[in-house]
Amino acid sequence: HLSVQERIENKRKAALVGGGQTRIEAQHKRGKLTARERVELLLDSGTFVEYDTFVEHRCSDFGMEADQNKFPGDSVVTGQGRINGRLVYVFSQDFTVFGGSLSGAHAQKICKIMDQALLVGAPVIGLNDSGGARIQEGVESLAGYADIFLRNVMASGVVPQISLIMGPCAGGAVYSPALTDFTFMVKDTSYLFITGPDVVKSVTNEDVTQEELGGAKTHTAVSGVAHRAFENDIDALLNLREFFNFLPLSNKDSAPVIECQDPSERLVPGLDTIVPFENTKAYDMLDIVRGIVDEREFFEIMPNYAKNIVIGFARMNGRTVGIVGNQPKVASGCLDINSSVKGARFVRFCDAFSIPIITFVDVPGFLPGTAQEYGGIIRHGAKLLFAFAEATVPKITVITRKAYGGAYDVMSSKHLRGDVNYAWPSAEVAVMGAKGAVQIIFRGKENQAEAEAEYVEKFANPFPAAVRGFVDDIIQPSTTRMRICRDLEVLASKQQKNPWKKHANIPL
Ligand code: COA
Repeated sequence: HLSVQERIENKRKAALVGGGQTRIEAQHKRGKLTARERVELLLDSGTFVEYDTFVEHRCSDFGMEADQNKFPGDSVVTGQGRINGRLVYVFSQDFTVFGGSLSGAHAQKICKIMDQALLVGAPVIGLNDSGGARIQEGVESLAGYADIFLRNVMASGVVPQISLIMGPCAGGAVYSPALTDFTFMVKDTSYLFITGPDVVKSVTNEDVTQEELGGAKTHTAVSGVAHRAFENDIDALLNLREFFNFLPLSNKDSAPVIECQDPSERLVPGLDTIVPFENTKAYDMLDIVRGIVDEREFFEIMPNYAKNIVIGFARMNGRTVGIVGNQPKVASGCLDINSSVKGARFVRFCDAFSIPIITFVDVPGFLPGTAQEYGGIIRHGAKLLFAFAEATVPKITVITRKAYGGAYDVMSSKHLRGDVNYAWPSAEVAVMGAKGAVQIIFRGKENQAEAEAEYVEKFANPFPAAVRGFVDDIIQPSTTRMRICRDLEVLASKQQKNPWKKHANIPL
């Protein structure tokens, strides 16, 4: 007979090896770390405080009640710890125990840390690696998913929620990551789909591999479901630590201020010549972004999806900012369905978590065509407009070149409560480009060239906007960093409230 102390120790030891050495080796062979190894890498060393090591599943069907089918902690490791000293709650699904599948007990463990995270105001990071619902538990498992979904929704906008997909994530399991703020994936070893290749084959007769259907490439470049993909588990976890540093702990907290070595008054002479003289020529908006932010460090979100808009996090004088920029290199920086949705969700995240938004505008308008109209560009473009309009965080806008048509209004214009709106000398704020405009207002008339020249003279410059106060100043591009750093200092005490409402009705 073992003493209680011995039994406690034995259970703890058993919990550490999850589904056993053979399955751990299988996990390693696939190039994956175990649930516990991942937690160790993610958190500051020695800070992990585990919950529920002794929780076991309670299923008694299909022989599950047998001792050899019980694993202390079941198929998920949960707890809290620190990333660079800042509190975070974590769950890490253990593929070595029933394929990381979600039992009622597993769900309960996740719910417990989510509830706790909300109570104290700290982010939740989920490391997903799971065969989905625990088949032996049936509806108990489905109930568990719904309990998690509900908490994801309640926590949305209160604490940041981040999902890292590090193995399979199928069926109902995909909706928790989908509800979180950011979904990152590991290349080659992770996949997300509603139904796997076999079901796809039987329903639609399509032949598709797991990787094509729901791998990292698919979701970061085609579907827009995931926000970034990393090379392997280690790369992903280290990047997640970097990423975490940009975020506040909750909507009542502000993002950490990092000591900044990069002078806030630094001039960026290269920006004075970055916009090509010819206004149809492209340049890389990322060069402007990197030139302006601290240490050229830009954590881009969704870099391979809807590349006509650039979004991501950076710092200005040590403070986190969200960057949104049209990308003239891709589709001339036009706004389309995907870029509107990409931008809108990002703007809303920044607004929810008090992160100032800096917007760089070079947009010739919305992308024309039946594909866009049939796809609902009106509805989707409205999301970006809605997001910028409702945002009450400090908003600074720089028009680097074109700001045409409705897209001018959308891109954090003065009219949508932009706090500081700048134009570079190369800015052109107009309903459309000169050629298109003249073709409409002087249709069939002679002297088109003359009319075009007149239009350019009148509209292809920053003055029409500046004389009306729609931009606050026309600034030398090289001074942009300095100006924005000063503005952010001033705007740090900005207070703005929207009218009371139960919630808004953003066009979906
Ligand atoms: N419920 C219970 N046990 C599960 C499970 C689930 N949903 N998914 C996997 N497991 C178990 C397997 O029985 C196996 O147990 P063992 O180690 O005792 O043999 C272990 O987890 C590993 O699964 P295995 O199939 O050997 O791994 P794999 O890497 O070859 O395949 C999956 C992984 C996820 C693709 C595959 O297990 C699968 O298709 N699972 C079911 C997915 C599903 O449809 N879930 C319901 C959707 S909500």
